[in-house]
Amino acid sequence: MYNVKAYSAASATSRLASTKIVRRDPTETDVQIEILFCGICHSDLHQVRNQWSDFMPTVYPCVPGHEIVGRVIKTGSAVSKFKTGDLVGVGCLVDSDGDCPACKAGLEQFCPNLTPTYNLPDKHLGGVTYGGYSESIVVEQRFVLHVPANLNPAGAAPLLCAGITTYSPLRHWGVAKGKKAGVVGLGGLGHMGVKFAHALGAHTVVFTTSPSKKEDALRLGADEVVLSRDANEMQKHVGSFDFILDAVAAEHDINAYINLLGIDGNITLVGAPDKPLGVSAFGLIMRRRSFSGSCIGGIAETQEMLNFCGEHNITADVEVIPIQKINEAYERMVKSDVKYRFSIDMASLKSE
Ligand SMILES: NC(=O)c1ccc[n+]([C@@H]2O[C@H](COP(=O)([O-])OP(=O)(O)OC[C@H]3O[C@@H](n4cnc5c(N)ncnc54)[C@H](OP(=O)(O)O)[C@@H]3O)[C@@H](O)[C@H]2O)c1
Ligand SMILES: [Zn+2]
Ligand SMILES: [Zn+2]
Repeated sequence: MYNVKAYSAASATSRLASTKIVRRDPTETDVQIEILFCGICHSDLHQVRNQWSDFMPTVYPCVPGHEIVGRVIKTGSAVSKFKTGDLVGVGCLVDSDGDCPACKAGLEQFCPNLTPTYNLPDKHLGGVTYGGYSESIVVEQRFVLHVPANLNPAGAAPLLCAGITTYSPLRHWGVAKGKKAGVVGLGGLGHMGVKFAHALGAHTVVFTTSPSKKEDALRLGADEVVLSRDANEMQKHVGSFDFILDAVAAEHDINAYINLLGIDGNITLVGAPDKPLGVSAFGLIMRRRSFSGSCIGGIAETQEMLNFCGEHNITADVEVIPIQKINEAYERMVKSDVKYRFSIDMASLKSE
């Protein structure tokens, strides 16, 4: 075992602060990674502040971070996929049983025995897993991804959660040329959704509550931008969408978007507000519309997404920050004031 510098929260109301945590020595199938960048996902904030207490209560101290890009510094003797010096990524999962139906279908995110990257039992060291707001991490090779060398590492880090969480449902629901796709909420997830929907060839419409993001939405690849608090603008799109991706992190009126779907249209929720959403039965039954959810993506699909990003030169638009600015970044994220993902430069931990 060895000590690494990290940032953790001591309680739901504490600021994140410098600490030290323990990592295991790599086993024969493990990869030891020096973390270069870690994106800040809104899920980190939900978890740190225990906003999902009914579903996934937070264990303190909590070291979040599941958008990790780094360099391999050591590999176990049985590791064949990676070598020292490789640019690699780790997302929301660090282990699963590998032999349940979900794992066999490449849907590790639904494995009953999965180990998320932080806040759930660590089968090696006891306690809970600690995430990417740290100098290094040791991960079973099945859960380590190759990051294409042409991608900027700071901008690639958010692909490991925001990227796969939006890519997976867009692919699942057949978003492609000739389809009309909406993305609700231009945050970390939303802006990746726009880039992917555009790259897949769909007519892409962004719904935002922030008038100041209109120009950016067009630059990111949107064909149209709708201010969702303007009823007239919303009305123009009634019954017209094949698919809408809802990436809003707070309570909002889902029915306003269900009404925009055409026959057999689907709206998929990836945002995870802590309170239940009220869904109107008539909104769904009138045009055989469907409402579903989606959770990150499996490992093979995450690699597919990274390769797609390599081919299309897609990364997140990031504001790179030193870890010392983490609490400020959280406050700005609550105000939807991020352009469009914070990425922590982990070299800043060295001065702690
Ligand atoms: N399903 C999964 O696997 C998965 C994976 C990762 C994250 N998540 C969840 O997805 C959500 C979004 O994460 P994120 O990191 O993209 O968050 P984020 O960067 O904070 O973006 C959320 C966006 O939602 C919009 N928004 C915020 N408050 C709103 C309100 N009161 N009403 C309407 N719109 C509002 C804002 O966009 P505008 O300014 O454009 O309106 C904001 O930028 C979080 O709940 C997160 O936990 C789920
Ligand atoms: Zn996330
Ligand atoms: Zn499994």
